[in-house]
Amino acid sequence: MAKIVIVFDSLRGNTKRVVDVMSELFSAAGHEIKAVKPKEAEVADMEAADFLLLGGPTYHKDLINTMKQVLFKLEKADLKGKPGAAFASFGWSGESLGIVEDTMKNLYEMNLVVEGIKIKQTPLAAKIKKDVEPFVRKILETL
Ligand SMILES: Cc1cc2nc3c(=O)[nH]c(=O)nc-3n(C[C@H](O)[C@H](O)[C@H](O)COP(=O)(O)O)c2cc1C
Repeated sequence: MAKIVIVFDSLRGNTKRVVDVMSELFSAAGHEIKAVKPKEAEVADMEAADFLLLGGPTYHKDLINTMKQVLFKLEKADLKGKPGAAFASFGWSGESLGIVEDTMKNLYEMNLVVEGIKIKQTPLAAKIKKDVEPFVRKILETL
């Protein structure tokens, strides 16, 4: 059983729905999952994770401030070589994905073993699941 940690934020519920679907899939595969908002993110939890996922939505072609703040906080963690991936909920451009991925790769020197995904905003859990399942499957293959 691997410990998977997700740090995310969501202003209008779309990213939260993505995290709920991902958490369900990881739990169903028998893994421990901890999904936290930026305020609850502890450096020790991130360091203890076997796989670290970071994700947030795009507003005005940018990552939201709470996620930017947590990216600063995580600079203090020793994440070098840790396996991870990024994800993003978006409407039409999804710049937040690249911002998070670049930071994970260049600042934390994490090992991004699976390419990040952008999930188009939708209230439908079934649609989210269809998009997210292949991403989760790729991560599970690495654990
Ligand atoms: C004011 C506003 C600005 C937005 N700007 C962008 C944008 O620049 N690029 C994009 O891809 N989506 C944009 N979106 C869409 C959001 O990224 C999308 O709704 C996302 O699913 C929101 O996630 P959340 O509900 O977790 O906050 C914008 C939405 C709003 C309301």
